[in-house]
Amino acid sequence: MSEMLSLSRAAKLVGVTRTEFQKKIRDGEMISHDGMVSIENLLSCYPDAQLDDTAESRRVAQIKERAFGKRVFESVLPDAEVLAARVTELSRTLAINQGQVQQFNALLGKLWDKLAEVESRLGTESRATMQELKTWIKHEVELAMEPGFINPLAIKDAVLRITTAQVTVLPGKQEFLVEGHDSLLEAAIRSGIPLNYGCSGGNCVLCKARLVSGEVKKTRHHDFVIPEAEASQGYILLCSNTAISDVVIEAAVAGSVQDIPFQEISARVKSIGHINDDMLLLHLQTPRTQRLRFLAGQNATLRVGGSFSADLPIASCPCDDRNVLFHIHRQSGNLFSDYVFERLKEHDAVEMEGPHGEFILHEKSQRPLYFLAFDGGFAPIKSLIEHALSLEAGNICLHWFGSSQKNIYLPKVAQAWRDALDNFRYEEHIAGFDLRSVSGKREETLLRQLGNISSGDPDLLQGEIYIAGPEDAANIAERFFLDKGLPKTRVAVASVK
Ligand code: FES
Repeated sequence: MSEMLSLSRAAKLVGVTRTEFQKKIRDGEMISHDGMVSIENLLSCYPDAQLDDTAESRRVAQIKERAFGKRVFESVLPDAEVLAARVTELSRTLAINQGQVQQFNALLGKLWDKLAEVESRLGTESRATMQELKTWIKHEVELAMEPGFINPLAIKDAVLRITTAQVTVLPGKQEFLVEGHDSLLEAAIRSGIPLNYGCSGGNCVLCKARLVSGEVKKTRHHDFVIPEAEASQGYILLCSNTAISDVVIEAAVAGSVQDIPFQEISARVKSIGHINDDMLLLHLQTPRTQRLRFLAGQNATLRVGGSFSADLPIASCPCDDRNVLFHIHRQSGNLFSDYVFERLKEHDAVEMEGPHGEFILHEKSQRPLYFLAFDGGFAPIKSLIEHALSLEAGNICLHWFGSSQKNIYLPKVAQAWRDALDNFRYEEHIAGFDLRSVSGKREETLLRQLGNISSGDPDLLQGEIYIAGPEDAANIAERFFLDKGLPKTRVAVASVK
């Protein structure tokens, strides 16, 4: 029987997304039993999969690098102890398999003797049949032992089992891979799975989860001692352990904004980048032990200079919870904006509170994702798209409307997604007027632009729509889709000043 692989592991082996697999399963091109596929079936769908590297995996690596920064690729191999433990585990499996092969060989020898004994008692006619059977067995055994029969994907899978371990989270059956030096918690967050946690440092106990099967290794000392009764049931801290083998855990996953606690964090300015005269990219970094837990698309309140505050959409992905980005729009006379543009500098403290807001991704939907950003509405949309990419979502389309070309202030980010991913489309639209003030003729123009998009894309009205931007423009876009008959549950809107 052919070896079975989980969808996550199989996707990693052939260098495609799980979404592509799911499509093949829906289309009947690939057969899955309880979330597993056979290596044989995998090879028949991807005959070139034995290549070390595929164009697709290079593209996915490229997009992840652009989206999340080089940090993702800092450490591909786990530390020496974890590596040794995984090699030991693999050697144990190899030893078991070798033992089984030896037993089968011995059994084959006995079978041969038995056949010879039976043959000696047979008549001439039956002996000919027996000879035919022996010739067939000999041929099949030789065929099975030929080195060329070894499946290249099986070799690649063995290597993958040393560099990564797969985690399945119950009860939702979410899957992710642990790579490099990552703890179970870090790997989950990078994969877009919002497990419960607080300090990331072994103090708050919020990341406590039960190990159902598999082996883990403690990678960080924590002062908290898990009570004996719980430890014997398999309870561990996800922030302080990594996986040695494939593991199954039972853990709390945030399903809504209510599951995320309110936090107050004193962050530092890592960098301030001027995108243009009116727009600035503020990169805040939290302390290691107090990261900002949020869902993509949510807001945080920033306070600078002791008393100037603003509620802003987070423009980065929860998959990097220490590095939190904001797009700051210059607003003359606004004390917060003036302070950030004129006085804030690297290493300054910025108080951060939050998160809040309900503009989040409907992760369970299988529909195509459509994002409509108006001017600075790109900030929460960027967070949602990066999260969707880490979840390996299916088809994604971004329409960015700018009051002017200058208001499409980070076109290269969107162009990079489009260039790197086959399932990503991106279009820019220039309104030619201030999208913060839309009525009369301007409203007609905007509705006409939305109508052109809709009539040119038959899938648009089948998708999940996410709209973010100045209130006027966002409200008009929302009404446009509701008038087209989309239910309110499929049109999410965020107002961004
Ligand atoms: S996140 Fe606080 S102990 Fe693990």
